[in-house]
Amino acid sequence: MDIHDIDTVLYDRAGDALVIIDQTLLPGEVRLLSLTDRDSIYEAIRSLRVRGAPAIGAAAAVGLAVLASRRAPASFEELREGVKEDSAFLASARPTAVNLFWALARMEKVLDRGYGSAEEAVESLRREAEAIIAEDIETCRRIGENGLALLRDGMGVLTHCNAGKLATVRYGTATAPMYLALERGMKLRIYADETRPLLQGARLTAYELSAAGADVTLQCDDMAASAMAEGLIDIVITGADRIAANGDAANKIGTLGLAVLAKHYGIPFYIAAPFSTIDLSTPDGSAIVVEQRDGSEVTDLWYARRMAPEGIKVRNPAFDVTDHSLITGIITEKGIARPDYKASLRTLSEE
Ligand code: MRU
Repeated sequence: MDIHDIDTVLYDRAGDALVIIDQTLLPGEVRLLSLTDRDSIYEAIRSLRVRGAPAIGAAAAVGLAVLASRRAPASFEELREGVKEDSAFLASARPTAVNLFWALARMEKVLDRGYGSAEEAVESLRREAEAIIAEDIETCRRIGENGLALLRDGMGVLTHCNAGKLATVRYGTATAPMYLALERGMKLRIYADETRPLLQGARLTAYELSAAGADVTLQCDDMAASAMAEGLIDIVITGADRIAANGDAANKIGTLGLAVLAKHYGIPFYIAAPFSTIDLSTPDGSAIVVEQRDGSEVTDLWYARRMAPEGIKVRNPAFDVTDHSLITGIITEKGIARPDYKASLRTLSEE
């Protein structure tokens, strides 16, 4: 199965199920998972079977619609209570990507319209989840078009983690300009950071871009500086999990280091993200909760035997926050925001 023939998050109306590609098995195996109960939807988000900010949001929205339609409540009020509970539970799966909270809040808001029956309300939730999926596809395509203006034939483009099609429904955010470049016959040299400890760059970005026919080179995270020093990188584009009102951007651990390096080498550093990732209610990066994950992801995962002394203390923050002063621009579906971000993000958001 070619992953480019399937969307990352699907709503199977007939089977009343959330369908995702199990990303923990990639690149070795492309397996679809059909999820219908609360615990398995929560677990899929928590353990990164579906991951990447926009994909988490879309999966939570579809998950909430599926759970609502399987509840068979007696009244609209009973349904509403159930949806609130399910939403709070799914929201606790991961703390950093704001798209999760954005999508769940958008789904809950549908119920504010008030309904005469639970069935009508469920149908509205289904439609909202489908709208979130359709908008994500359109939004990412627009991010691609806006980002494409920054690219030229022959450029070296560095990306980190997976802000690709597998992190959204289709196209990705950071990768959207790369896919559009490919469609238009532009030749790019793409460098994908491996992205320790969960290897989203190696397992997902290198995989999806090479499957699409892109020229992609994989490197360990600690090789980014030498790639820049050797003049291989003309631009860095990463995604984001939450962007504060002042432009500070949380993204996969290691992104901050790249931004610092890019500044040193005079290389433009861009973040690509939809407005659903921009959280204007968070004033700056210090208010963003960074997910801390289990130390075994650093010491044991992927290794045939443990690669660290027993009992060693381990730091495993899943994200870091890049200060807005290090970001050249934020590529959104509405255009590219430039400093001063407080003003430019606000203006774009009102368009
Ligand atoms: O822990 P993950 O794999 O969910 O982290 C994903 C990232 O950090 C992505 O760069 C981000 O969500 C942008 S997705 C378009």
